[in-house]
Amino acid sequence: MLSPNKKPGLRPLVAALTALTLAAGLTAAHANDGLPKIPNKKPLKVGFAQTESNNPWRLAETKSFKDIAAKCGWQMVMTDANSSAAKQVSDIQSMIAQHVDLLVFPPREEKPLVPVVMQAKKAGIPVILVDRNIDQSMAKAGRDYLTFIGSDFIDQGQRAADWLVKSTGGKATIIELEGSTGASAANDRKKGFDDVIAKNPGMKIVASQSGDFARDKGRQVMETLLQAHPDVTAVYAHNDEMALGAIAAIKAAGKQPGKDITIVTIDGTKGGLEAIKAGELGASVQSSPFFGPLACDVAQKYAKGETIPPWVKVSDRFYDKSNVDESMKYGY
Ligand code: AHR
Repeated sequence: MLSPNKKPGLRPLVAALTALTLAAGLTAAHANDGLPKIPNKKPLKVGFAQTESNNPWRLAETKSFKDIAAKCGWQMVMTDANSSAAKQVSDIQSMIAQHVDLLVFPPREEKPLVPVVMQAKKAGIPVILVDRNIDQSMAKAGRDYLTFIGSDFIDQGQRAADWLVKSTGGKATIIELEGSTGASAANDRKKGFDDVIAKNPGMKIVASQSGDFARDKGRQVMETLLQAHPDVTAVYAHNDEMALGAIAAIKAAGKQPGKDITIVTIDGTKGGLEAIKAGELGASVQSSPFFGPLACDVAQKYAKGETIPPWVKVSDRFYDKSNVDESMKYGY
């Protein structure tokens, strides 16, 4: 069992992980057969290939791996793909060439990272995907790589939509700011949200465009879309950073975020929570970036011979004005 992380949000996650692992152990005794093993040595050379470092979520994720490394007996090899799936692929290929003992990474996009996962398997290196997943019709968790540790992004989108339907009385003209094109986080958050909205005849998405999960891109896209749709009454942003960019664009257009335009988002960053407190952001579904301790726990269990389920699901909190004060401690 992991030693508890200082972040208060981690304990329920670890408990969920333990429960899932135990459940899977009872039902699928040999689910990890045929996958590369983690060598029994210390330190373990672990490759962590980050997608980019342009927002607090990514920085918190990287920090959680740096923080856990010594405790877990990991010697980290870390890279940053600067928002390029092609660079992330070559970063991982170089880690394979260096013979790391374990690969842990968030695939920037669902399809381009599939071949490198297969290359790692062929090279005998176990892979744990965190945060985002790859296309399951091309490669499967539990068969081609050990597991995916992460949130249910479809559920996050549904929860954002449910809140918006409720808080607007089922009537809204919506702009959607999508995450990075091709990322599982963007695809699934869109699906979850759009499916709920489609069932509500008074709710209409008038524009949906990528802001690449980045604050300034979100601001620019919102600026353009506001000109085309001045009658908009709601914004759904796939992450807090784009929502904060949208808030800046709304203010620049002379409108009041939170009054003229209701905004809902996903992440639960410090900036997002502060915007809820200021009444500018309506709500944010939490998406935890603290994968370091979870990945360590999974790797240690796997090394001991325990069976790991294909999806170690992380559960998420929900923040709005009703609980923002006591939730500030979870921001990052
Ligand atoms: O994959 C998770 C998403 O990616 C987070 O919501 C976002 O902030 C990040 O860049």
